[in-house]
Amino acid sequence: KQQIITLLKDNIRKIPDFPKPGIQFKDITPLLQNADTLELTSRVLARPFWRKDIDFVIGLESRGFLFGTQLAENLHAGFVPIRKPGKLPAETISVTYQLEYGEDQLEIHKDAFSDGARILIHDDLIATGGSAKAATQLVEELGGKVVGYSFIIELAALEGLKKLNNDAQTEVLLSLD
Ligand code: PRP
Ligand code: MG
Repeated sequence: KQQIITLLKDNIRKIPDFPKPGIQFKDITPLLQNADTLELTSRVLARPFWRKDIDFVIGLESRGFLFGTQLAENLHAGFVPIRKPGKLPAETISVTYQLEYGEDQLEIHKDAFSDGARILIHDDLIATGGSAKAATQLVEELGGKVVGYSFIIELAALEGLKKLNNDAQTEVLLSLD
């Protein structure tokens, strides 16, 4: 397990001052680029949820799409995208949430799943937790049950995990500051 974590750490690139001065971007493209870490990451993400009867993995646009569909495949679950406004073609519901400056919006198709579906929410990274919390609201509005959260990276100092449902199983591969 520790070996896996080291391998993942070595394949996440930190870019200073991107997209803005003072922000250090956590770039997972090397993880995707390397055939071994690509396969390994999706398996390690799936493992804790194998016996959890996940019906759908929900991936958050856009970086949550990268491993989200693989995670779904590994769990023999369906995949449902949550997208930024105006991208989904059929009938949607949306949620608006606060950012540090201003606000943002996320949408899901109304017919994405049926009442009582067991949902795993996935994203590459959790920072403030604003997007994962908004995704939770969308799932619950459609009658789904969030049974798990899966992130590759957590920015621990921002304490985003505190915004999530307590009774869901939360898995993070790497905690960074
Ligand atoms: C980043 C990241 C998460 C979100 C985390 O996405 O991929 O989705 O921010 O932040 P939060 O926990 O504070 O909500 P971004 O909005 O940069 O878009 P992208 O995935 O399309 O690159
Ligand atoms: Mg994102």
